[in-house]
Amino acid sequence: MKYNIRITKVKESHLSEVDFNNIPFGRVFSDHMFVVDYKNGEWIDPRIEPFGRFGIHPAAMALHYGQAIFEGMKASKSYDGKPMLFRPERHAHRINNSARRLCMPEIPEDLFLDGLHALIAIDSNWIPAQEGSALYIRPFMFANDEFIGVRPSESYKFFIITGPVGPYYPKPVSLLVEEKYARCAVKGGTGEAKAAGNYAGSLLPAKLAQEKGYDQVMWLDSNEFKYVQEVGTMNIFFVIDGKIITPALDGGILQGITRDSILKIFREKGFQVEERRITIDEVAEAYKAGKLQEVFGAGTAAIVSHVSRILYGELLMELPPVESRKYGELAKAEINGLRSGRIKDTHGWIVPVKSPVAMKVG
Ligand SMILES: Cc1ncc(COP(=O)(O)O)c(C=O)c1O
Repeated sequence: MKYNIRITKVKESHLSEVDFNNIPFGRVFSDHMFVVDYKNGEWIDPRIEPFGRFGIHPAAMALHYGQAIFEGMKASKSYDGKPMLFRPERHAHRINNSARRLCMPEIPEDLFLDGLHALIAIDSNWIPAQEGSALYIRPFMFANDEFIGVRPSESYKFFIITGPVGPYYPKPVSLLVEEKYARCAVKGGTGEAKAAGNYAGSLLPAKLAQEKGYDQVMWLDSNEFKYVQEVGTMNIFFVIDGKIITPALDGGILQGITRDSILKIFREKGFQVEERRITIDEVAEAYKAGKLQEVFGAGTAAIVSHVSRILYGELLMELPPVESRKYGELAKAEINGLRSGRIKDTHGWIVPVKSPVAMKVG
């Protein structure tokens, strides 16, 4: 470990209060958090502290001008009980892409990774052992200058917090194709960054879609409202006539790590895969011709969510029953198999959490 991480442990763990068979997503937090400050051009005082509230100045710039970015990742236990991370260096890399776009300082990737390993090692008892469950990990960074005025902040805080999440058995999602509202995720915008503001801009259209009985919005490009981008917090895949098609990364779409992994797996298995622009009209035509076999979203939370129906204008596309979805199911089984250690990792994606002894932690 390169960085000297100061550690203050909780006096008493509250692990025993948690019902691991019934964990609401996003509401249960582990005992500790990793914190590091950015001041005067450097990252200082990396530390692990008891999880808890912290003070913030009312003029903290993130609250006003939105310099706030985050990541979402998971730690799981292999079938023989070893804590594992999935492609953590890709998340370290992606948060720095986000930082650059929002004019925030990059966090050294080895500081991100050292803090992550130390935190997960200390709270490794919080990783649920049940298959399909995981410890959700939320790294985030925000502007902390106490200043009113639009300019990049000069001080920042970076945190990693975690919390156990139960097995994610999502029911297939219904999607409404959004033809009026755009997010900040336009070409040249902040779509490739995991910026808090991107999600703020998606809330109203998502709420309106839900009022119409649809779970999520399918986003189109916001220049022509023609090309499919992504869905809520997932990248999107179509299977048309035996070909697996996903929108190409065009600067407006998040570079999903699940997307990338699934693409590699499909290619290695010899499937026909296309990363390209795809119009919603092409999807509609394929549906009308009986060639739209599957649609699924891919992201860290659910790995794969099948899509049940898509409303595009007047056209309701009803997709085949989940039992017939061989492509989406294969992708899900492969990623879950890798995470549990039941499928051999030939890519170096599965990273064992460094032991506390090796890190002189605790
Ligand atoms: C907008 C958006 N697209 C796609 C994804 C999927 O990315 P990943 O597979 O890295 O979780 C996410 C989730 O992070 C997201 O928020």
